[in-house]
Amino acid sequence: MLVSPSLLSADFGNLERDVKMINATDATYIHIDIMDGVFVPNISFGFPVLKYIKKAAEKPLDVHLMIVEPQKFINEVKAMGAEIMTVHYEACLHLDRVIHQIKDMGMKAGVSLNPSTPVSLLKNIIGDIDVVLLMSVNPGFGAQKFIPYTLDKVRELRALIDSTGSKAIIEIDGGVNADTGKLLAEAGCDMLVAGNYVFSAANPAEAVRTLIEL
Ligand code: DX5
Ligand code: ZN
Repeated sequence: MLVSPSLLSADFGNLERDVKMINATDATYIHIDIMDGVFVPNISFGFPVLKYIKKAAEKPLDVHLMIVEPQKFINEVKAMGAEIMTVHYEACLHLDRVIHQIKDMGMKAGVSLNPSTPVSLLKNIIGDIDVVLLMSVNPGFGAQKFIPYTLDKVRELRALIDSTGSKAIIEIDGGVNADTGKLLAEAGCDMLVAGNYVFSAANPAEAVRTLIEL
């Protein structure tokens, strides 16, 4: 299992320390949640802060934009060295164009679906997507409860990917812990985002390992 710890649960007064702490784990990526107070009812951090995260990070960055009109920030996300740039399906009027703009900039294109958005909407575009990020909570906050019907969505998405020969990986975000992670692994997901589960653990590196081994 690939694991992407979410910095949203870090101690923002000690961001550099917490980024270095994740550097020292076996995590695959560092997950960065950008919010605008419009697409989601919360605001996290913006590009001036991310400049310092980039400096400290030794893992590739997995950037999740929970903002309206994410296409306006493709250059900024590229400049922070993101490997994956994920936009929300619900925030893009012209998703096909945005996906290709992200890929043209040399990044992996991720598309996220809110819990209530059906997987079937990706049917025609799945071959062009590198990462599908299924939200398993309503986006905006860490430490929320996992929504169980996500498991059906993972199975449906797995079948869509396998039947079309798409290379997309399935990433799940929200309420992930060892228990929900196990169910998600069985349902066919490839990558887990974890905020609260990693950062509130007595031993975060061990929490990351637990998820990797699922
Ligand atoms: C929520 C964010 C998540 C969040 C997950 O809107 O997209 O990445 O940090 O946090 P946990 O793992 O605590 O549910
Ligand atoms: Zn996220």
